[in-house]
Amino acid sequence: MRIVITGTPGTGKSTVGEILSKRLGAPLYNLSKLIKEKGLYTEFDEKRDAYVVDVDKLREFFKGKENFIAEGLVAHFIPADLTVVLRARPEVIVERLKPRRYSEEKLKENAEAERLAVIATEVFENPLDCRVVHIDTTDRTPEEVAELIERALKGEEVFDDVDWLEDETGCY
Ligand SMILES: Nc1ncnc2c1ncn2[C@@H]1O[C@H](COP(=O)(O)OP(=O)(O)OP(=O)(O)O)[C@@H](O)[C@H]1O
Ligand SMILES: [Mg+2]
Repeated sequence: MRIVITGTPGTGKSTVGEILSKRLGAPLYNLSKLIKEKGLYTEFDEKRDAYVVDVDKLREFFKGKENFIAEGLVAHFIPADLTVVLRARPEVIVERLKPRRYSEEKLKENAEAERLAVIATEVFENPLDCRVVHIDTTDRTPEEVAELIERALKGEEVFDDVDWLEDETGCY
């Protein structure tokens, strides 16, 4: 089974990926690490302090692999059997990322990206012939999120219809 987990930083991709990988006995790929280690990038963006992914190289790396979990901001560009989009209330994103000592600007940028559903929109606009589930992690433990993904794998429909713009308390 090919599972990709995407979402704004702080939605819990790595945490949930680890749990799921143990439960399913499937190899886990952390994409930021992989992209750096295998050179799957076009350039280093100094301003963003991040590598710019080369989507062709990324897809090439996963070509032929039938059993994996890949988690990261660009996971939804990898063909898979199940795409998991993790969401979380913007102010919760800020709380979860605070221990990382990100700049105020970076915290705001991530909260805003989540508020505007940047990644969820990207997934919607780049359909890859893949089942997509959306999970709101705000009031769920990582274990509960992993459990929901397992249920989705068994065929259950999992779709949290979140819209932080509609929700006044979603402002930070
Ligand atoms: N469902 C959850 N409930 C509460 N805390 C969580 C949950 N999921 C993750 N966290 C916590 O939030 C923080 C960020 O989680 P994690 O590193 O898994 O996010 P990420 O999506 O992988 O972020 P990035 O894109 O930056 O790698 C961690 O401290 C983690 O323990
Ligand atoms: Mg991570």
